[in-house]
Amino acid sequence: MSRSALLNVMVNAADKAGRGLARDFGEVENLQVSRKGPADFVSRADKRAEEVIHAELLRARPSFGFLGEEGTVEEGDGQHRWIVDPLDGTTNFLHGVPIFGVSIALERQGELVAGVVYNPVLDELYVAERGQGAFLNNRRLRVAARDDLAACLIGTGLPFMGHGNHVRALSEVQPLMSRVAGIRRAGAAAIDLAWTAAGRLDGFWEHDLKPWDMAAGIVLVREAGGFVTDADNRGEMLKTGSVVAGNDFVHRALLGNVKDVREARPRPVATQ
Ligand code: IPD
Ligand code: CA
Ligand code: CA
Repeated sequence: MSRSALLNVMVNAADKAGRGLARDFGEVENLQVSRKGPADFVSRADKRAEEVIHAELLRARPSFGFLGEEGTVEEGDGQHRWIVDPLDGTTNFLHGVPIFGVSIALERQGELVAGVVYNPVLDELYVAERGQGAFLNNRRLRVAARDDLAACLIGTGLPFMGHGNHVRALSEVQPLMSRVAGIRRAGAAAIDLAWTAAGRLDGFWEHDLKPWDMAAGIVLVREAGGFVTDADNRGEMLKTGSVVAGNDFVHRALLGNVKDVREARPRPVATQ
């Protein structure tokens, strides 16, 4: 695959930050034994990663705006904006679980046009540009083609202490459990979307996300031939915080499940 200059800029930034995170991840294991755990160390690693990405992107495109989870916000030229999560999957990282990644997206005139998600431990680099397809380490990606829910592996995100709507999450998971091959909560929305693009997950849905959790992943899924909307089947994912993704069939099924729960018409739950 040939990458545009812009995508190269994004990949270089993700690679540099990712190498730092991979080194820090090695340290995290040693810190597990301390009573306080590695929380402060991880929060510093997270901020450092954002600084690295910001410096790289700013150097290459000084006029672009920036929205980073760790607090870097720049207006820029009003046309272009980087949307960055330097470390998606912080809780995994903190616990030594190697499912986390750097997520960098580019928005042009309000449209998401490029996305990079990089897991430095697995050395998996996911890239996509609008109209150019999605790739994992240079291999072209397609969303999974399954159209039988019973064979599908579905990803989601579950709310946790002090966050999100716990009742809604359980109500959405319950009717789905009996209809699918499995449900996974991998712990990093950017990676969930990348795995959906790669066909590892057949679909994914989550609520209460932030733009940086999903911006790059949305481009990946679309460019892998998948469908991505918010929970109302509109394109307002970044505004509403909800995202539903998959092939045409799975996307519709997941939307239907969310709708059924919202309208309190749960499907009958199987007894086994
Ligand atoms: C979190 C992860 C997680 C999702 C949370 C996010 P963070 O991002 O993407 O999967 O369920 O809502 O906040 O905090 O690890 O960058
Ligand atoms: Ca995140
Ligand atoms: Ca983060």
